[in-house]
Amino acid sequence: MNLENWFRPAVLKMKGYVPGEQPKDTTTVKLNTNENPYPPSPEVLKAVRDQADQRLRLYPEPAADTLRKRLSQVYRWPVEGILVGNGSDEILSILFHASVGKDDLVQYPDITYSLYPVLARLREAKIKEVKLKPDWGLDFKKFSPAARLTLWGYPNPPVGNCFPQTDIKAFCRKAKGLVLIDEAYVDFAKDHCLDIAKACPNVLVLRTLSKSFSLAGARLGFVFGHPWVIAELMKVKDSYNVNRITQAVGLAALSPAGLADMRKNVRRIRLDRNSLTKELRNLGFTVPDSQSNFILATRRGSPSSEGLYKNLKKKRVLVRYFPHPRLKDSLRITVGTPAQNHRFLKALKEVMSWELEVRSEIRKLLTPHS
Ligand SMILES: Cc1ncc(COP(=O)(O)O)c(C=O)c1O
Repeated sequence: MNLENWFRPAVLKMKGYVPGEQPKDTTTVKLNTNENPYPPSPEVLKAVRDQADQRLRLYPEPAADTLRKRLSQVYRWPVEGILVGNGSDEILSILFHASVGKDDLVQYPDITYSLYPVLARLREAKIKEVKLKPDWGLDFKKFSPAARLTLWGYPNPPVGNCFPQTDIKAFCRKAKGLVLIDEAYVDFAKDHCLDIAKACPNVLVLRTLSKSFSLAGARLGFVFGHPWVIAELMKVKDSYNVNRITQAVGLAALSPAGLADMRKNVRRIRLDRNSLTKELRNLGFTVPDSQSNFILATRRGSPSSEGLYKNLKKKRVLVRYFPHPRLKDSLRITVGTPAQNHRFLKALKEVMSWELEVRSEIRKLLTPHS
């Protein structure tokens, strides 16, 4: 078999995106892919049932116009400036295909969503990774204003911090190319960047229903941008890229009741994120404040973070470990329900028991006798 005759060298050379594990076993506590632990709104489940009839024989609305109108009302954005996709991943793919050619410069932080490098390599782009500072902040002066495409997360994974809006604004005004601000987790954060996109026609803001709306399985993402930019992306998308059921799911999720259900779950997750952060800090981990539905916990010690990940997995608790040199001492933990977080912490204390005993002995020795 001669794959060289069948595939582009860039494809043969590259590694594909590695998604988090999706175990079949339903007893595993799954805190590895930033899904929402709460079920979708009952409005959404009703919409799915209502769609299960003979209309499935018909194609869906090609550009999902009814859904775009609803998005336009909810987010106060012109309909012509909205594109919906089969998850926000599809929109990223559309953007790279539409904008990036061979040797065009694409830049992003060295620590961010790991799909960006895959798409950049697929397009044979020139890649610039800007190293985040030790506190995971971003020095925007290190980004080139000449890049064809610049991306980062707001909040930026897998840390969950948001870069300052003043720096973002200043960079976007200078940038000659497109800037994509990936707001997959923004509903868990304090603010968003839609106003920056309103002021700068080169800026796109990407959103998804996968996280805050508990709809990762439905695959629905959307992007806000200048109508002229969106018109170019529209040319690249598949004719019917969002299926009929998902369009109905989106409308139900964005109904007043659907939005209220989402906000209720977001409030719970934010509170539990803060308690989980405190608990992990008490166990000796460094945990930066997160504005997302996950936290990054870092510690040097034995067992290593990879060891912790493996031992937790044996106890049927899944978290995410990244074999990246700057993340080798870290685990990314999705915030679950209070019961799931409790099971995670209990399992973690068990796998760290030796280290915790030593710490407690040291504390005793250091405590002055009364
Ligand atoms: C930063 C970021 N952007 C986009 C996505 C993709 O989300 P979707 O499920 O909408 O494709 C993810 C998924 O984890 C993500 O972390």
